[in-house]
Amino acid sequence: MTWFMVAVVVVAAAAGLLRWRRPAWYWLSIGVTFATVRVMVRYASVMDACGLTVPPARWRLTLARMAGREVPGPRPPRILRLSPTRTGLVLRLKLRPGQDAFDVAATTDRLRHSFGLYGVTSREIRSGVVEVRMTGYDVLKRVQMPARLDTRPMRIPVALREDGSVHYRDYRAVPHGLTLGATESGKSVYQRNLVAGLAPHHVALVGIDCKQGVELFPLARRFSALADNPDIALELLEALVTHMEEVYQLIRAEQRISVAVPDAKIAADVWDLPEDIRPVPVVVLVDEVAELALYATKDEEKRRDRIITALVRLAQLGRAAGIYLEICGQRFGSELGKGITMLRAQLTGRTAHRVNDETSANMAFGDIAPDAVLAAVQIPAETRGLAIAGDSTGGWHRIRAPHISLREAVNICNKHAHRTPDVPALAAFRPAIEAVPSARDRLSKTAPATA
Ligand SMILES: Nc1ncnc2c1ncn2[C@@H]1O[C@H](COP(=O)(O)OP(=O)(O)OP(=O)(O)O)[C@@H](O)[C@H]1O
Ligand SMILES: [Mg+2]
Repeated sequence: MTWFMVAVVVVAAAAGLLRWRRPAWYWLSIGVTFATVRVMVRYASVMDACGLTVPPARWRLTLARMAGREVPGPRPPRILRLSPTRTGLVLRLKLRPGQDAFDVAATTDRLRHSFGLYGVTSREIRSGVVEVRMTGYDVLKRVQMPARLDTRPMRIPVALREDGSVHYRDYRAVPHGLTLGATESGKSVYQRNLVAGLAPHHVALVGIDCKQGVELFPLARRFSALADNPDIALELLEALVTHMEEVYQLIRAEQRISVAVPDAKIAADVWDLPEDIRPVPVVVLVDEVAELALYATKDEEKRRDRIITALVRLAQLGRAAGIYLEICGQRFGSELGKGITMLRAQLTGRTAHRVNDETSANMAFGDIAPDAVLAAVQIPAETRGLAIAGDSTGGWHRIRAPHISLREAVNICNKHAHRTPDVPALAAFRPAIEAVPSARDRLSKTAPATA
C-alpha cells in the first residue's frame, strides 16, 4: 500500500512538473485524455449553465405526455465532432433552432473556465455549424510550430495563433502587408521569420533597411537586391517600377498570343503566364519605413516624394506583376506626410505588435477592425513578439512568431543562397558578398596612433 502511495505521489509530481516546464508535452501525454473526458462528462451541464440550451421541441413534450414518460429537459447543441489536436481540442457543434453563432461566441470565456481549459474561440463554419477551438495551455508562451505545414507557393507559415492554428502570410491572397509596433516589440523578428520562410521558395527578395542594413544585410546571400539608405532605396524602388512595367509588357505580349489562339486562357497576371516565361515574384521588405518618409532639407523632401510615389505605384499596380510589399515601422500615419495614408490603404494585411498608444494601433486597425485596436494596446511589454494580425475581412487573431535568432536566419538564407534569382532590372543592387573588416579592425585603423 505504501509503495502504491509513493508511486501515485511520484507520478502526480512528475505530471505537475511536466505541466509547469513543458506544457506541450504534458498536453500530448496526459492533458488531452483528461480534457476530453472532462468535456464529455460536463458538456450538458456546462451548456445549460452557460445558457446554450433550448427547451425541448413541442412534439417531444407531446410524445412524452402521451407515453406517460418523464418530460425531456432542455437540449444543448449537438456534438458533431470532438477531435484532439496538438495544442487542444476542436469541438464542432450543430446549433439548435433559435440559436446562433453569436450565442456561442459570447460564452467562450465562460466555457474556458467551465471546461478547465486555457483558451476558447469559436467561429461559424457554415449556417448552424460552429467550431469551438480550445487550447489546453498558453500556446503563445513558447511558440513551437507544427512539423507538418502547408507549403503552397507564396504561403508562408510565419506565426502561431492563440487557438493553436498556424498563421500564414499568404501573398497571393493578401499581396501587401504592414507591420507596426513600438521599438523592441518584435517587428524585425517577425520579418526575419518571413525571410526564413520565403528563402526556400522560388522568389526574389528585395530589402530596404534604413537602420544601415543591420537587420537585412546579414541575410544578403538570399537577397537579389538590398538598400541600406534612402538614396539607394529610391534608385532601387524606381528600378522596381521599371521591372513592373517590363512584366506588364510581357503579359500584354502573351495576351496577344492567347487572344489569337481560341480556347487559351488569357493571362491577366504573372500566375496565368506559362511557367517557362513567368517572371519570378518579388517580395519587397522594408524595415523602419519612417526613415524613407522623413526629410530635413529641400533635396531630401524631393527624394522622399519620389520614394513614396514609387511605393504607392508598386502597392497599387504591383500585385498582378508579382510584386508584393511587406512594410515594417513604428508608426505609419498621416504625420509622415503626403501619400502615406494612400499607401496604407493598399496594405491589406495588418499586423500590430505592442504599441504605446491608441493612435499607433489605429494606424493598423482603425479603418478595418476597431476592436483589434484595444487588443493591440493591451499587449504586455514583457511578451515581445506577441501581435494582433488582422485582414480586410474585419477578423483578427492574437499571434506570435517563433523566436528566430539572426544566426539561425542567416544559416537558412545561406543554405538556400543558390535559389537567389537574378532580376535583370535590379542587378545593380545585388549585395556584394565579401568579407568586411571587423569592428575591432576598423576601430584600430581610425584610432589615433599612440607613442
Ligand atoms: N516572437 C518572439 N519571441 C520571443 N522573443 C521575441 C520575439 N520577437 C522579438 N523578441 C525579442 O524582442 C527583441 C526585440 O525584437 P525586434 O528586434 O524584432 O524588435 P523591433 O520591433 O524590430 O525593434 P526596433 O523597432 O527597435 O527595431 C528581440 O531581440 C527578441 O529577444
Ligand atoms: Mg527592428
